[in-house]
Amino acid sequence: MTQNNLTKSEKLDIALRDSFPASDPIPLNSNPKRKEEQMSYELKKSDNLAGSDDLKPVAETLSQVLADTFTLYLKTLNYHWNVEGARFVGIHNLTDEQYHNMFEAIDTLAERIRALGYYSPGSYEEFSKMTTIHEASTGTVSAGDMLQNLENDHMTLVAKLKESIPVVEKHDDSTTADLLSERRDFHEQAAWMLRSLGK
Ligand SMILES: [Fe+2]
Repeated sequence: MTQNNLTKSEKLDIALRDSFPASDPIPLNSNPKRKEEQMSYELKKSDNLAGSDDLKPVAETLSQVLADTFTLYLKTLNYHWNVEGARFVGIHNLTDEQYHNMFEAIDTLAERIRALGYYSPGSYEEFSKMTTIHEASTGTVSAGDMLQNLENDHMTLVAKLKESIPVVEKHDDSTTADLLSERRDFHEQAAWMLRSLGK
């Protein structure tokens, strides 16, 4: 359709659109990654494995936990490297222990997705589509805020894992349920340690 075939009102709409291009919507709350924006990542079934469609919700849950764990692993490293001030030693050492735990967990979670017959997400782009954890900005966070942010993030994961475990159990996947219970225990303990260090 050429411009000449358009009505006056359509021409006005185009002129307005070109003059005022749409800006990003203003987030409704302080967390711009709202629930409806997540999981735009589509899990792919592996050809060479008997990926059961019944277990797709389990593999999706694992992928979300993987994305959150990877993002929190990176954020924990960021704080481990960049913490400053009187609490340096305590935070540097506690984050050291915690990122090592999460480094091992991301491998275990990804390999469980593979065992279920799906490909595991494994790029920053894919993880950023799924995660609800906010990345840290380098050099702008006080030691106290680091402790608070990490505690909140671990509790976010605890809540997500508590929701996920009954879903996985409903699909009779006790191996994944055990793995997720282990992850819930770790994140609960991590949050407690961060909270205690922050007092
Ligand atoms: Fe280190």
